[in-house]
Amino acid sequence: MTDSLKTRPRRLRRSQLSVPGSSEKMMAKAAGSAADHVFLDLEDAVAPNAKVAARSKIVTALRDLDWGNKTRCVRINDLGTEYAYEDVITVVEGAGAHLDTIMVPKVKTAHDVMWIDILLGQIERKLGLTRRIGVEVLIEEVEGMMNIDAIAAASPRLECLIFGMGDYSASQGIDIGSAFGPSGYPGDIWHYPRYRLAIAARAHGLDAVDGPFADFRNPEAYREECRRAMTLGCVGKWAIHPAQIEPALEVFSPSAEAVTRARKLAAAYAEAQARGEGAVQVDGVMVDVASIRILQNVIDKAEMIGM
Ligand code: COA
Ligand code: MG
Repeated sequence: MTDSLKTRPRRLRRSQLSVPGSSEKMMAKAAGSAADHVFLDLEDAVAPNAKVAARSKIVTALRDLDWGNKTRCVRINDLGTEYAYEDVITVVEGAGAHLDTIMVPKVKTAHDVMWIDILLGQIERKLGLTRRIGVEVLIEEVEGMMNIDAIAAASPRLECLIFGMGDYSASQGIDIGSAFGPSGYPGDIWHYPRYRLAIAARAHGLDAVDGPFADFRNPEAYREECRRAMTLGCVGKWAIHPAQIEPALEVFSPSAEAVTRARKLAAAYAEAQARGEGAVQVDGVMVDVASIRILQNVIDKAEMIGM
């Protein structure tokens, strides 16, 4: 990992709440929610005739509401629209000091990331902002999935890659009905893209995040999607409704028992190493340096959460 990657801010993203930027009411509700991260949307959650007005509503919400410790993000429209550049200019000039990241949807190539990197740099200089605004990208086009390694390496501003399964299905021609219908696709339809995205993210020191689950009155199915994404290395999942926040916070946090066990094994291993041993048994299980790397992920998560 290069030094610029190590300087990336570490943020919790267990639950990333999507909020229509056209709705003052929902933005106020989001500010008071338990989500780690909130993104105020200018893209799909906002109708074309409401997009321009939503920019100033977002600026006001960012400036006036108390967001606590949340990561404050704005999702702009995609680079193929006439909206994208003014989304960035209006929101960052209006509320740059009250904003942590910009999310770019439908990223296809590394150039898309460079565009937002350069534009943000210009606005930051003009405003004299001392804190770098981060970038989050949605991988939801087949081109983006093909170019994912170059995209992940494109800018030190990048903080996370998000798998957007809705648009991705459309882009690849996946028939969601057949994939999830009574017979279902053999295995998990999202296994490959989640796995691929988690590899690219981890290799570049970024967070891997799982996208939306629309059936918000089905907590069991949502929880299962969280569990699958978490198992493959994703740090969190989107919530499109407040009901999805708590399940994601729970699934993407290690249990207290897991944290206690990880710390116990790490301590046992440190003692073993001091005795000159490379492997040790704890409660009948072998612990070596590879086990410690796995456990360290649990310990790192626990420290970020404050467990
Ligand atoms: N953020 C903040 N508050 C939300 C919310 C969200 N994403 N979704 C719902 N709420 C609020 C509602 O305003 C309502 O508030 P109230 O109790 O004060 O009236 C409460 O949570 C319960 O909402 P509910 O009545 O169950 O749902 P709804 O019919 O109002 O909204 C949706 C359903 C799907 C329209 C709404 O959840 C939504 O717009 N989600 C985000 C969609 C989005 O961002 N899509 C793009 C990314 S995939
Ligand atoms: Mg999308």
